[in-house]
Amino acid sequence: MKRLAILTSGGDAPGMNAAIRAATLLAIARKVEVFGVIQGYVGLISGDIRPLDAAMVATLVREGGTMLGSARSREFMERAGRDRARAALLAHGIDGLLVIGGNGSLTGMRALIDPAEGGGAVRAIGVPASIDNDLGCTKLAIGVDTAMNTIVDACDKISDTASAHDRTFIVEVMGRDCGYLAMTAAIASAAEVVLFPESERSEEQIADTVVRAVEKARLRPNRSKRVLVIKAEGVGVSAERLKTLVDQRLGSAVETRVTVLGHVVRGGRPSALDRILASRLAHVAVRGLLAGKTRKMAAWMAPREVGAEVSESDPQCALVDIDVMLDETRKMLEHSSPFVKWRQNVFAELEDVFVL
Ligand code: F6P
Repeated sequence: MKRLAILTSGGDAPGMNAAIRAATLLAIARKVEVFGVIQGYVGLISGDIRPLDAAMVATLVREGGTMLGSARSREFMERAGRDRARAALLAHGIDGLLVIGGNGSLTGMRALIDPAEGGGAVRAIGVPASIDNDLGCTKLAIGVDTAMNTIVDACDKISDTASAHDRTFIVEVMGRDCGYLAMTAAIASAAEVVLFPESERSEEQIADTVVRAVEKARLRPNRSKRVLVIKAEGVGVSAERLKTLVDQRLGSAVETRVTVLGHVVRGGRPSALDRILASRLAHVAVRGLLAGKTRKMAAWMAPREVGAEVSESDPQCALVDIDVMLDETRKMLEHSSPFVKWRQNVFAELEDVFVL
């Protein structure tokens, strides 16, 4: 590899900058010229590809967001858009590409280098970055840890005021169609209820779950009657609608409030774990490109059964085939993956424990 281009795509995630930094520094040390693509696939299509040097990324490890900018490109979903992107790579003499992003971004990467579309000339490896943690074959994606800490911090604050007033709070957290952030944050912030799309409950069942928890909490002797409900955004009932349903059933005896954390969860300085995770995954990805590999994603603690190639330089990291990874991601989103079934069962069992 002589010329590496790096791009960040899709929803930004804290730690993307740390990945850009690690990839740039390693590549420069190996005498590879490095370029940054501005605004993800949008910039690739328009040819907005600029040189990166060590000074530009030196202290980037601690910055949130992404210095390269990010976007979701509709044009790139069409063959004509991808043809323009391939032409831009060719014009800049790029022979290696690092894509830092989530499911849509890595699906785009696979299409970009598809030999059937004439994309075989450039090698590409993905680095998983999405606060949603909805990617298969990697235990963690970049940004998840920071997002989880932001949620837990917010829930701790909400819990103080909820306890003071014996109120029920419905806190909605991001995660798109995946309940991972809601599930883990519920454990870490001692929530009484967690609602996530994987449980596949109807609106009525969801309202029942909350009402049962509130009724149970009201029986607590000499203790706060506060109830913290963490709801993943992918659950098919909005937080306001859920509040209405709960209020209708419980009347004025219980005060319910709603907080939607929204994009707050995606920002901020990356946690130490995200900085390290991002640096290690980017390192393994660049080493893979230097070794001539392509159509892979760098994964963190990949499950054995996915046939991952464990990195010689970092035993916690591996390269997994992009088709295998995207297939597992699809199964997770369709709830047919055994991993999702396990989560469903564990949280169903914990439901009564949470509310004690
Ligand atoms: O995929 C990351 C994510 O933050 C999701 O959790 C959320 O559903 C979505 O992106 C929001 O997208 P946008 O920033 O385009 O509104």
